[in-house]
Amino acid sequence: MNESWDTVAAVDPQALQDAALNAIAAASTTAELDEARIRYLGRKSELRQALRGVRDRETGMTLNAARERLESAFATREAELERAELERSLSDAQVDVTLPGERLPRGHYHLLTQMRREIEDTFLGLGYESFDGPEVEDAYHNFDALNTPEGHPSRSVLDTFYLNGDVVLRTHTSPGQIRFMETHEPPIYMVSLGRCYRRDTPDPTHTPTFHQVEGLAVDRSITLADLKGTLLQLARILFGPDREVRVRTSYFPFTEPSAEFDVSCFLCGGAGCNVCKHSGWIEMGGCGVVDPNVFDSVGYDPEAWSGFAFGLGIERIAMLRHGLPDLRLLWENDLRFLEQF
Ligand code: DAH
Repeated sequence: MNESWDTVAAVDPQALQDAALNAIAAASTTAELDEARIRYLGRKSELRQALRGVRDRETGMTLNAARERLESAFATREAELERAELERSLSDAQVDVTLPGERLPRGHYHLLTQMRREIEDTFLGLGYESFDGPEVEDAYHNFDALNTPEGHPSRSVLDTFYLNGDVVLRTHTSPGQIRFMETHEPPIYMVSLGRCYRRDTPDPTHTPTFHQVEGLAVDRSITLADLKGTLLQLARILFGPDREVRVRTSYFPFTEPSAEFDVSCFLCGGAGCNVCKHSGWIEMGGCGVVDPNVFDSVGYDPEAWSGFAFGLGIERIAMLRHGLPDLRLLWENDLRFLEQF
């Protein structure tokens, strides 16, 4: 006979059961109840040890009956205590709904997107339609249909990203004109805004990806005066109601005559400052009267219709309006910079 058998022999199932029931009734939390469970029903409890050492059927039945009784008493008490604890936590945890919440950081549009939308809205307000052309273009739409001949410097592989044969990343938004005219009959009032690509080495005023807005109006007897009035409206919306616009003759393959347009300096009002390089005027973009060859390429009758077109860079407008020192900032995604706008 070993020691454990002595212990087993000494167990009084009734006394054990009474002690356990007292402990169950006395437990006032689920944690206390768990302690009692381990003590009376756990692997090392007297009852378990006695059950392991059982030699005769009758003792086994008595001990098992005590175990079952205790298990169900534990379960009942556990349910009671859990309910009480839940009720207590619900009534204790009062929420003060008047306390200020945590402020969630709120994003906003990138400066370029804001500029783009502002320009687009201006033209929508003038009755223009907005058109999205593809960024991956063919040389036909990017150059040929725009009256830009083979051998023109802008077609060089040093200037243009050729993807594959005649497939290019558009170098300006002007091909949007062609695509729009191919699918629409005049009269036409449309703008096309989006990304363009050129093989430029990044510096403070150049990035290989940039944005342009292209405008096109085609109607009966459109004149340069219509063009100038439209540009004046744009300049005043972007740079203030006192701005003036001037056009200087220039050359673009797709317009005849062609011009560049300037806005009177919004910083010095024309007196001369660093921003306008002491000229009183700031360059904005190119424009002109649509070349008859361009109408030919889309099947419009140049005798019946006339039009004007213009194009300008969106980064440049953002740069001027906010006095940005370096265009590359717009592409670096540094939130300390972007959050300022
Ligand atoms: N596409 C020209 C460029 O990228 C800008 C331009 C000039 C557009 C004259 C026009 C225009 O529509 O008439 O520099």
